Amino acid sequence: MFGTKLKTLIESKRPKVSPEIDPSTLSNYENFTITDATSLEFNIDFDSQTVSGVVEYSLKSQEPSEIILDTSFLVVSKVEINGEDVPDFKVLPRKEPLGAPLVIPNKSFTEFKLKIEFSTTQDCTAIQFLNKEATDGKMAPYLFSQCQPIHARSMVPCFDTPAVKSTYKMKCTSPYPSLMSGRPDPKNFNEEANDDTGLKTYYFDQPIPIPAYLIALASGDITKAPIGPRSHVYCEPKNIDSCQYEFENDMESFLQTAEKLVFPYEWDQYDALVLPSSFPYGGMENPNVTFATPTLISGDRENVDVIAHELAHSWSGNLVTNCSWEHFWLNEGWTVYLERRIQGNIHGESTRHFSAIIGWNDLENGIAAMGDSAKRYSTLVQDMKDRCDPDDAFSTVPYEKGSSLLFHIEQVVGGKAVFDPFIPHYFNTFKYKSLDTYQFLDTLYAFFKDQASALDTIDWETWLYKPGMPPVKPFSDTSLADQCYDLADKWYSTIIAGESITATFKASDIASFTSNQSVVFLDTLVALNKREDFYWKDHLSQLKEMSKIYETYSESKNAEVLFRWYVVQITGENKDFYDLLGEWLGTVGRMKYVRPGFTLLNQVDRERAVKYFHEFESGYHPICRAMVKKDLNL
Ligand code: BES
Ligand code: ZN
Repeated sequence: MFGTKLKTLIESKRPKVSPEIDPSTLSNYENFTITDATSLEFNIDFDSQTVSGVVEYSLKSQEPSEIILDTSFLVVSKVEINGEDVPDFKVLPRKEPLGAPLVIPNKSFTEFKLKIEFSTTQDCTAIQFLNKEATDGKMAPYLFSQCQPIHARSMVPCFDTPAVKSTYKMKCTSPYPSLMSGRPDPKNFNEEANDDTGLKTYYFDQPIPIPAYLIALASGDITKAPIGPRSHVYCEPKNIDSCQYEFENDMESFLQTAEKLVFPYEWDQYDALVLPSSFPYGGMENPNVTFATPTLISGDRENVDVIAHELAHSWSGNLVTNCSWEHFWLNEGWTVYLERRIQGNIHGESTRHFSAIIGWNDLENGIAAMGDSAKRYSTLVQDMKDRCDPDDAFSTVPYEKGSSLLFHIEQVVGGKAVFDPFIPHYFNTFKYKSLDTYQFLDTLYAFFKDQASALDTIDWETWLYKPGMPPVKPFSDTSLADQCYDLADKWYSTIIAGESITATFKASDIASFTSNQSVVFLDTLVALNKREDFYWKDHLSQLKEMSKIYETYSESKNAEVLFRWYVVQITGENKDFYDLLGEWLGTVGRMKYVRPGFTLLNQVDRERAVKYFHEFESGYHPICRAMVKKDLNL
C-alpha cells in the first residue's frame, strides 16, 4: 500500500482505534449505539426567550453502563429509562469550553429508551432570539440556531460528537412558521394556528442518520417560494422576490451537476432559509434546509457559490462526516473541492482555477493573521487533545489547504478523468458514517493501487502535519485573474513612479469586472502592502484619489467587494473609512466580515473599534460576540 516513508509516518500517527476518539465531547458515546430514530421535540417560548424540549433516544450497549451526555447551560428537569423515573441524574460542574456532562446512572439495561426533559437558558450559545425590531419586516420575533461545531449541547442533551449519527422524528411548537433539519410535513406551511393557545406544531422527518451538530431550528415570520423543482427558498415575506431571484437560476443546475460528480441527491428536497443579518456564517449546511446569510442577496447572483458549497455538503459532511473536529478538513476541504468542480463544470475550468486563486489568497491572509497561539491551527490534521475550543480552531485552513490537497491528488494520479471515479467510491464507502484522515488515506491508496508510486510523491508530512502554507500550489490557469493583476500592477507602478493618478485611472477600469474579479483586484491591492518597498499609508493621497475614482465600490451591494474595499482603504489608514466600516459592522453579523473588520479597526484605532463593538454587541449572535471579544481582548 503506502510507500515505506509514508507508512512510517502514518503508522506513527495512526490512532489506536479508528475512527479516532473525539476529544471535544465529554460524553461516553463510545459505549453506545443508537438503534432507532431519535424523537426530538422543541417548544419555543418567545416571551421567556427559551426553548423547552423532550428528547428520546433508543440506546444499546455491550454492558450496562451509566450514560454521560453533553449539555451546556441547559436545565434538565426529568430523566426516564424505559418509562421509569431516574431521579438521581446529575449535571456535573462545567469544564470550559466543553460544557457540563449529564450523568445518568444505569445498572440494569443494555437496550433501552432514554427520555429527557430539558430547557435552554439565557446563556444558550446555539440559539439567538431576535426581537421583532431586529428583523427586516418587524412583524414578529425570530429565533434561529447554529450548532456546529459544539453548540448542539446547549440546545439538547446529546452525544455531541460528529462520530455519532441518528435518524430523527422531529417536531416543534411555535406561534410562527418553523423549520427544522428534516423533511417538512406537507401540512406545516398550509394551515393556520391549530390550537387555542395560538401555537402550531410543525413536523419533520429525518430518515438519514445525522450527527447532533446538524440539528437546526428556526422560527419567525417566514414564507417560501420555489427556486427549482425540488427546492424552495424561505425568508421573511418582504424579501421573498429578491431571494427567489438570487437562487432560482442556479439551484437545479447545481444539484444536477453535483449528482453527476458524486451520485444522486439522497435527501429528497434541498431548501435554503435566508436569515436575518445576525446569522454568523455565510451558510450552514443544515440537512434539507441550508441556513444562509442575507449578504448573499446582492441582486447580481454572484454569491451563489455559497449555495453550491452548502449543497455539496449534502455529500461531504452530511452523508460522509468527519469523526471529530480534528479532521474537519474532510468536511470542508472536500466541500470546497466539490463546490469548485460544480462551478468548473458549469462555467468552465478557468472559473474553477479563478475560485482557487481567491481561496489561496484567503489562505495566505488567514495564516498571516494567525497570532502565535493560533499557528497550531494551521495544520491540516489538527490536535485538539488538550480539549481546546473548536471555535478557536476555525480558519480558512481546513477549507483551502484541504481542497488544495484534493486538487493536488487529482493531478498526481493523472487528472480529472482518472480521479473522478474515486469520488463516488469514497462517498459510497463512508456514507452514513464518520471517518478520520487515516481511513481516507487507506481508501485512497486502495483505490489507486496502480498509482501508489505517484501518490508517494506527495509530501504528506507537510500537507497533513506542518503548519503554514501547503508545499504545492495545484492550479495554474490565471486567465480570469490577469486583468485584475494588471490593473493592480498599474497602480503600483504609477504610484512608485510618482505619476498622476487622475490622468492614469478611470471609473471604467473596473466597470466590466465581475464581483469576483473585483475581489481579486482588491486583494492584490492589499497584498502590495507586503512588499518591502510599499506601504499604503505612505501613499494616502493616492489612496484618497482612488476612493473618488472607484467610488462605485463604496456603494457595492456585494459584501465580499465592499468589505475588501474597506480593507484597502483602512490598510492605508484613510480615516474617511473608519466610521464607514464601523457603521457597516452594525449591519452584518457574518463572522467572516465582523471578526476581521473589528481586528482591522482595532489595529488603526482601538478606541473606535471598542466603541462600535459595544454599540452593536447585543445584536450579534452569541458565538460571534464571544469570538470578537476574544479577538479584541475584551
Ligand atoms: N459548515 C460551514 C459553517 C461552519 C463551520 C459553522 C464551522 C460552524 C463551524 C459552512 O459550510 C461554511 O463553510 N460556510 C462558509 C461559506 C463557504 C462558501 C466557504 C461561510 O460561512 O463563509
Ligand atoms: Zn462548509
